[in-house]
Amino acid sequence: METLHQPLMQLAQSEKMAVLGGLVAGMTHEMSSPLGIAVMAVSHLEAITQKIQHEFLTSQLSRTSLEKFLKNTSESIAIIQKNLDRTADLLKSFKQMAIDRASERKHEFNLLQYIDDILLSLKPKLKPTAHTVVVDCPKDLRIHSYPGIFSQIFTNLIMNSLTHGFETIPNGQIRINIVQDNDTLRVIYQDNGKGIPEEHLEKLFHLFFTTRYGQGGSGLGLNIIYNLVTQKLGGKIMCESTVGQGTTFTIHIPSAMVQLPD
Ligand SMILES: Nc1ncnc2c1ncn2[C@@H]1O[C@H](COP(=O)(O)OP(=O)(O)OP(=O)(O)O)[C@@H](O)[C@H]1O
Ligand SMILES: [Mg+2]
Repeated sequence: METLHQPLMQLAQSEKMAVLGGLVAGMTHEMSSPLGIAVMAVSHLEAITQKIQHEFLTSQLSRTSLEKFLKNTSESIAIIQKNLDRTADLLKSFKQMAIDRASERKHEFNLLQYIDDILLSLKPKLKPTAHTVVVDCPKDLRIHSYPGIFSQIFTNLIMNSLTHGFETIPNGQIRINIVQDNDTLRVIYQDNGKGIPEEHLEKLFHLFFTTRYGQGGSGLGLNIIYNLVTQKLGGKIMCESTVGQGTTFTIHIPSAMVQLPD
């Protein structure tokens, strides 16, 4: 078992690096515009400062020219400040996401808030579509676990609904239900997409099982989820599906695994 286990964990690691790579690409893209604007404003400041210096040194400096310089300067400073603030905010949020995903630190978090954060980070994928996501989770449910793992699980499930389930459905619905009873935390993830044929269900979590081979599918996503749920969260995952009606993934995590420390 150990020999099989090892490459799978290495793959989970390489997916994590791929996710980080995507994060870095996203960060570069998002940060380049405010940084570019700030750099432009600094060059402008440099040019008008040189001009005013020249006017001063050659005793050509007029009151109007000085007034214009002061107005221009404060405008440029405001632009630089705003755009650098924006860059710093982006950096902070990306850094937090990278920490959550890369480190395996267990900590306490509000599950509903965390799911909302994940949905926010998927907005560029969801927003251009008419698909909806409804989350039903107790507002005050705090758990002690690995948030990065939950992020990987939900991101993969949602991406699968979008690429496979809703392939030909313009207005699909995703429902995420979180139910807590005494000894189990249940995550019920449902989409009303095209469904999965029965003969595929038994190999669904197998490594490299994909129906989109050669079209961007690698068959990694559900295998990674399976390993995370069973090995990291000590839980189990099941899938039920009806072709033409939709797919439901149910994850059971023993409460003891996500209990808050005393
Ligand atoms: N919500 C869904 N609706 C319909 N089919 C699904 C759904 N989720 C998964 N599948 C099927 O299960 C297969 C395996 O999913 P998995 O996430 O492991 O791989 P993939 O999405 O094809 O590739 P990768 O995730 O590596 O990019 C998919 O190719 C698809 O056929
Ligand atoms: Mg997938």
